[in-house]
Amino acid sequence: VTSALSLCSPNYYVLDDGAGLGRVFDGVGGLSGGGATSRLLVNYEEPYRGQILDYLFKPNFGASLHILKVEIGGDAQTTDGTEPSHMHYENDENYFRGYEWWLMKEAKKRNPNITLIGLPWAFPGWVGHGKNWPYDFPDITAAYVVNWILGAKQYHDLDIQYVGIWNERNYDSKYIKMLRYTLDKNDLEGVRIIASDNLWEPIALSLLLDPELSTAVDVIGAHYPGTTTVPDALKTQKALWSSEDYSTFNDEVGGGCWARILNQNYINGLMTATISWNLVASYYDKLPFGRDGLMTAEEPWSGNYVVESPIWITAHTTQFTQPGWTYLQTVGHLAQGGSYVSLTDGKGNLTVVIETMTHNHSVCVRPPLPKFNVTSQNATFQLKGSFVSLSEIFHKNILKLCLFYINKKAKKNLSFNFPRCLSKNFMSGVMNGSFTLNLAEDEVYTLTTITTGQKGSYPDPPPSACFPKVYKDDFNVRNPPFSEAPDFADQTGVFEYYNNLTDPGPHTFTLRQVLTERPITWATDADQTISVIGDYEWENLTVTCDVFMESVRTGGVFIAARVDKGGQSIRSTNGIFFWVFADGTYKVTNDLAGQAVLAEGQSGTRAYGWHTLSLTVTGPLASGMLNGYPLWKNAVVLNPKNGWAAIGTHSFELAQFDNFAIVAQ
Ligand code: GAL
Ligand code: CA
Repeated sequence: VTSALSLCSPNYYVLDDGAGLGRVFDGVGGLSGGGATSRLLVNYEEPYRGQILDYLFKPNFGASLHILKVEIGGDAQTTDGTEPSHMHYENDENYFRGYEWWLMKEAKKRNPNITLIGLPWAFPGWVGHGKNWPYDFPDITAAYVVNWILGAKQYHDLDIQYVGIWNERNYDSKYIKMLRYTLDKNDLEGVRIIASDNLWEPIALSLLLDPELSTAVDVIGAHYPGTTTVPDALKTQKALWSSEDYSTFNDEVGGGCWARILNQNYINGLMTATISWNLVASYYDKLPFGRDGLMTAEEPWSGNYVVESPIWITAHTTQFTQPGWTYLQTVGHLAQGGSYVSLTDGKGNLTVVIETMTHNHSVCVRPPLPKFNVTSQNATFQLKGSFVSLSEIFHKNILKLCLFYINKKAKKNLSFNFPRCLSKNFMSGVMNGSFTLNLAEDEVYTLTTITTGQKGSYPDPPPSACFPKVYKDDFNVRNPPFSEAPDFADQTGVFEYYNNLTDPGPHTFTLRQVLTERPITWATDADQTISVIGDYEWENLTVTCDVFMESVRTGGVFIAARVDKGGQSIRSTNGIFFWVFADGTYKVTNDLAGQAVLAEGQSGTRAYGWHTLSLTVTGPLASGMLNGYPLWKNAVVLNPKNGWAAIGTHSFELAQFDNFAIVAQ
């Protein structure tokens, strides 16, 4: 039992609403997209897919997220792939492409109160009239974005509550005002605008200087703010959000990063929402930023998934607070390092989240983390104001003290052991409306009046397994649940199920590359289109596919093996690419760009006819067949040694693929 409290003690903290409250809490969220981060999730079989969604969204179960932010697909490469637009062409509208609609509905099913946000990274080329810039025709861009919001409601009954401008790229004041105007004109006054999903400046200064712009914008969203803000942002009196954060490998250090920033984004920067890039790591792990999600689900073929530490770190806050709760003014740093936040629903409930993450166990991907020290400590909290009465409840042990607990066991290998449920015995004393905690390093505690929290669980999923070595897809699906075929991960261009309505023959159902023009890009997309699939470790294999060019004379398509790069590096991808062209020639190249030619010659291939390509790679030798006959052989390929299989086109052109097959050694 503690001795008398000393008000001067550096380890004494007050939890008080007496002098008023702090800012209103807007929630903790996850981001699907930016890009294609949920690509493999949709291909999981039940019950695993539903279990993953429960760990993310189900209240009182796992991460129980308050916010889901999604990419408004723009047909371009946006980190781990492309996401399809609802308007590939100016006269085209389709609100059933991709998986973000599905994901939002699954999230809503579990938590009807979840906040939905949309943000574009890229736009179809026509939005900029061919220029790589979305602001020359602000009315077109605004109509395009507002269509997505209207489509969400009309086709999926989803209410999008917030929309952003252009992820981590320039904003344009005229466009933002036009977006506000277009929303209002479409009875979407309730949809709020976040700007500018980049740094605090220059948007904060723009808002201060331009009252009309300030009226249009509701939230300043900054990315990877390192828990701090700037004076201009505070002066705007806007809500401040970390609208993208985390992006850290989801081991225990990633969990530590997440715990630290969830508390300190408010304490240091008065940010009232924090959104994780990304929601769930559901993309091939050799793509950029592998496993930078709250949990991992990158093996739909095995059903294996991993509930990683950030899920439980999230639960510490999300299960015991809700958007609309208010931070107390009594939040801050602990004397020996670490921090605490306190929030109330204004109806007597109180939640306190304490973290004592050490520097090396909580480094995030960016920005660099200045040195600080955390050591074990006692911390005494005094309940005051309207919470004084809680001390009564407290003594009667009704206050649930700790649901999740992480405890660093072996310092050397940075391994944590969590979560573990503790009872009140971690407290060394309770008296006079105060309590004392013995805090060690790298711990998270939630003290709360909310009693509904739970550590949800399902039986272990199936064990991890490699991508199947023998794989086939004939794309014969009459009503595909998704526009994309399983496991294909588009890296430039968009590949969709296609129905040749007029063709009763063997190729009625195919996969088609549908972009005919370069999008307004976010990354440096290739000049060719490409979709990768399979196991990055594959060395020796045969890839076979029927191909159909739709561009007379200028058309070109390829199949490939050992494709070694994706994401933002797609332009410099190497591998073994077997191309045929509509001008009657073929080529074998070591790169997607088509510069390193290994073989070339006549093929007799043409547009509007089906051809069967087959590529076999064994050690340093590759050979190719056309329509079952050898076309070229023994091309020497020393590098790359391994990589994905792929299909694609020579340019942004229509082309179809059918009867794709892989046999890997
Ligand atoms: C962000 C970007 C995301 C993703 C992430 C990776 O800046 O918005 O789309 O690329 O970086 O850390
Ligand atoms: Ca078919």
